[in-house]
Amino acid sequence: MIIAGLLLSVCIRGIIQASAPFSTPAIDCLDALKGCASDPGCEAAYRVLEYCASEEAVSPLGADIRSECFEAQGSLQQYRPLLSCKCHRGSRLEEACLRIYWNVRFSQGYDDFDSSPYEDFELELVRHIEMSRMASIVAASSLPPNGQNQCLKAAQDCGLYEKCGSLRSEYVLACTKRVIGSDRCNRQKCHRALRRFLERVPEEYSFGVLFCPCTDPLCGERRRKTIVPSCSYEERDGKPNCLSLQSYCLRDELCRSRLADFQHNCQPSSVSPSGCLRESGAVCLKAYAGLIGTIMTPNYVSNSSVEVSQWCNCEGSGNQWQECFRILHMFNNNDCLRNAISALGSLPPRPVESTPPPPPRPSPRIQQEDMNGNALPELSTVSCYCCSMGNTPGYPSTDTNPAEYRTNHGMTH
Ligand SMILES: *[C@@H]1O[C@H](CO)[C@@H](O)[C@H](O)[C@H]1NC(C)=O
Repeated sequence: MIIAGLLLSVCIRGIIQASAPFSTPAIDCLDALKGCASDPGCEAAYRVLEYCASEEAVSPLGADIRSECFEAQGSLQQYRPLLSCKCHRGSRLEEACLRIYWNVRFSQGYDDFDSSPYEDFELELVRHIEMSRMASIVAASSLPPNGQNQCLKAAQDCGLYEKCGSLRSEYVLACTKRVIGSDRCNRQKCHRALRRFLERVPEEYSFGVLFCPCTDPLCGERRRKTIVPSCSYEERDGKPNCLSLQSYCLRDELCRSRLADFQHNCQPSSVSPSGCLRESGAVCLKAYAGLIGTIMTPNYVSNSSVEVSQWCNCEGSGNQWQECFRILHMFNNNDCLRNAISALGSLPPRPVESTPPPPPRPSPRIQQEDMNGNALPELSTVSCYCCSMGNTPGYPSTDTNPAEYRTNHGMTH
């Protein structure tokens, strides 16, 4: 039964991957849902899934409801726009969009590295980030080298640009102001203000203050304190276990989405020169910055290195220690992320004309399937299973329980 659930999620991923190649602009989930609403079959199936997801958030579903949920998911397979839709980071209706994205993937495991709820970063933007940082580093390195604090300079540059200065003051105020009658800050307000800053300020300024290169601890301390750790993530009574931190994150649509985006865009690869599977440190840094202002806000661990981590540890993980370290190591032992952060401070500038953007490429899964054709027996079995899934009435998944699924994947708290 668990196998059936897994197969279903493999099928869905397969369809999503096949219908959303790297370079096609994705349809927004809110628009896809409007299209779905004009088809009574699609509308009905979606409403069932919406119900399933909201019920499941409260308590595990009974077997009967569960089988209806899988049936609804099966019939949605015909409606591709809804399966391949994406959301826009920081948009006004972001959370409504994300809800649709996750409702459609009702049964999918959370530990899915293959896809992000967000549309791919445009190559233009990526190139812009890389180039503008290069330009400012070149400018910085031509200044008198009297041990200038690059993080102080980045903060000053931000202050001179109105939008950056004012949004920065807003989050600093939100993150330092005490709640009346207590000695604590309002973390939610602090998070919201941090996200506004990171979503609205151009990377040449926001990356300047987040990833400024440092050679001494004074600069490093300023860099570490950029996002106001005492309010944005530190707990006075020590660090929580990473699995429980993650389980809080997964229950929050925004945090879950930003985490999936981070996993997708910062996946390490030992064969890529950048250290990143997606071959761009810039998209990894954008995704990393997207986690700041969520339950899983990452940051530098010390005043004297570029090592980053989550505010959590793996004490008391019991037999789930491997899963716990997987989470922790995505941050503190990830060559893609580490290279991306240090590249901002050390890469020699490259001339613009010699670096055309890489051609759009399909995701690794598609490349792999292209190469293998139908030769792999297990792949063709999966495809056949997916073909017949939509109209199999006795779809055998009645007692696959997502809580069980997650336990098996070390996702409980
Ligand atoms: C950073 O430096 C400050 C001032 O010296 C010190 O109080 C703080 O504990 C240091 N933090 C870390 C994480 O090293």
